[in-house]
Amino acid sequence: MTKLLNLSVAALIVVGGICLYADDDHEEHVRHASSFVAKPMTKQEKTSVALYQKECGACHFAYQPEFLPKRSWDKTMNSLNNHFGTDATLDPAEHKTIQNYLAAHASKYDRMTGMGGEIAMRISQTPNFVHEHREIPKKLVIQEAVKSFANCASCHTKAASGSYREREIRIPNYGSWE
Ligand code: HEC
Ligand code: HEC
Repeated sequence: MTKLLNLSVAALIVVGGICLYADDDHEEHVRHASSFVAKPMTKQEKTSVALYQKECGACHFAYQPEFLPKRSWDKTMNSLNNHFGTDATLDPAEHKTIQNYLAAHASKYDRMTGMGGEIAMRISQTPNFVHEHREIPKKLVIQEAVKSFANCASCHTKAASGSYREREIRIPNYGSWE
């Protein structure tokens, strides 16, 4: 809630439809991760987004690439045969398209300060994410309707369009967060 006020002291950067701001801690926050809807989009970009959403949205929410830096996505893409206990292998052409798409829209911030050199593969384990979600009671996360923090869209009602504003949050069996 106080975050809105931070905007006045924040550097507002709008790059190709991605809206990021760095607050007084020089930490990056993502409120609009809109690479899916960025305009104008070339035909190639549209194809890449659609392929990404189809393949990487088959088992879970298709996370916007802005939430992790390139080295995280590369690590994920290089280990799809053993992806969180599943096999998410792609054919070589699709693999290349998706890896390029992720690299082009990855976070410009490292996001892994304090992780002891480990390369994060989970958005939900990056220090920035943990900090932003620290006040949510565990029982609201592990409940059947959410299951884990990986299910962004179960609380962020506009996540699919890349919007993570507080007023759009509805936690199942709890309600709005404001
Ligand atoms: C066969 C199913 C399947 C496919 C296809 C799949 N994933 Fe996953 N993915 C999983 C599972 C299972 C998890 C762990 C979910 C959990 O902890 O609730 C996961 C978790 C993740 C996470 C971590 C989420 C977090 O922050 O906790 C990322 C990032 C991710 N996948 C990226 C991808 C990408 C990129 C692709 C496409 C190349 C992909 N996934 C395709 C099954 C899949
Ligand atoms: C259990 C519900 C829940 C889940 C699941 C969840 N979030 Fe959140 N998220 C919240 C709440 C509540 C806040 C606001 C926390 C606060 O300000 O105290 C928040 C805040 C955020 C913010 C900051 C918004 C702002 O205005 O600064 C971002 C970005 C975000 N979440 C992204 C994600 C992503 C990406 C995922 C999935 C990897 C995710 N969240 C999963 C509930 C959730």
